[in-house]
Amino acid sequence: MKSDGRVRNYRKDTLLAHLGRHPDAQHGAVNPPVYHASTILSSTMAEWETKRDPSKRFDVVRYGLLGTPTTFALEEALAAIEGGYRAMLTSSGLAAITAPLQACLKCGDHLLMVDTAYGPARNFCEKVLTRFGVATTYYDPLIGADIARLMRPNTRVVYIESPGSLTFEVQDVPAIAAAAHEAGAKVLMDNTWASPYLFPSFTHGVDVSIHAATKYIVGHSDVILGAVITTEEMWLKVRTMAADLGHCAAPDDAYYALRGLRTLSVRLERHEKNALAVARWLQTRPEVSRVLYPALPEDPGYALWRRDFLGASGLFGVILKPVPKKAVYAMIDALDLFGIGASWGGFESLILPANPERMRTATRWNAEGPTLRLHIGLEDPQDLIEDLDRGFHQLRAVAAA
Ligand SMILES: Cc1ncc(COP(=O)(O)O)c(C=O)c1O
Repeated sequence: MKSDGRVRNYRKDTLLAHLGRHPDAQHGAVNPPVYHASTILSSTMAEWETKRDPSKRFDVVRYGLLGTPTTFALEEALAAIEGGYRAMLTSSGLAAITAPLQACLKCGDHLLMVDTAYGPARNFCEKVLTRFGVATTYYDPLIGADIARLMRPNTRVVYIESPGSLTFEVQDVPAIAAAAHEAGAKVLMDNTWASPYLFPSFTHGVDVSIHAATKYIVGHSDVILGAVITTEEMWLKVRTMAADLGHCAAPDDAYYALRGLRTLSVRLERHEKNALAVARWLQTRPEVSRVLYPALPEDPGYALWRRDFLGASGLFGVILKPVPKKAVYAMIDALDLFGIGASWGGFESLILPANPERMRTATRWNAEGPTLRLHIGLEDPQDLIEDLDRGFHQLRAVAAA
């Protein structure tokens, strides 16, 4: 794509390949160079003064903390892919959660937080926001428009994560957003599961979209990074708070994320295909009670997922039939291809036991058996199925002993 400033209406896959790249300004190099910069020099005092104009704080390269051409390139691409106004980067996905909450809440405010939020997001409400006089009420992810009943005069934020962490409930984002806006609250959403590619949050009423870029955007399990994308209305408020808190992203991390972004849609397509194959096989297994994956027609969230999402990623849950913990651990230990480890969104498969019941307060998680979280990577799904088959063999052996 030529760097001529012309407005273009290219489709998302074309944008993924071209956004944030200006080869003619970089000796023809396909990828933008990595700017390792803290100090940015001005040639004259006049330039120094111009760069320090507060109205240009987030538009010019003036200090590494506030952005470089490397971080601007990634931000430009992310915002365009999700259809937001602008994006900002943070050092982690967790910082991409906490900075917008801090931007939108002050002492005396009330926050409505989904009960299925990523654990450390809840922790932030309980351990940090309480100290600053912000009250949190947790709500049922399936509440939909009924969230209107929980709104208080001082409710400033409704926080969404869909599908929910560990249990994958799909939220009715447009209905919740409409009720929140009606009551004068803003909608913040952790959109990491779908990435900017599979859930166009702003067309569904979200004001601030939060991403652990660590997952699918980077996609290779080697970088911790966060991104926040906002509407025009929310941009300056959230960007200013992120800067005031000192959030920024390392240059190489931004570069890796931009490189990961180029292949986001093809990776997601394969993650979904593989995850569906493994999930369908799991549904046939006698050891499995239920698979928690909105892309399966049997999932309670399927209709909403079909309506609002453009596809599914590769992360889902499985509820086993009742078995002792040692049998579950033996199954996981017997796996060859599934790694045991936190995070997800990389090219490789992962598995972990989950304990959603420990995290919930507004709803009860009363599953019939142990819950597992699987991330399905880009391996051949038949090899993953055979690996899980070996695991189940071990599970049955230990359960029967
Ligand atoms: C849904 C979700 N949001 C945010 C995060 C936080 O991302 P990070 O690990 O980059 O802080 C995670 C991490 O697992 C996550 O699963």
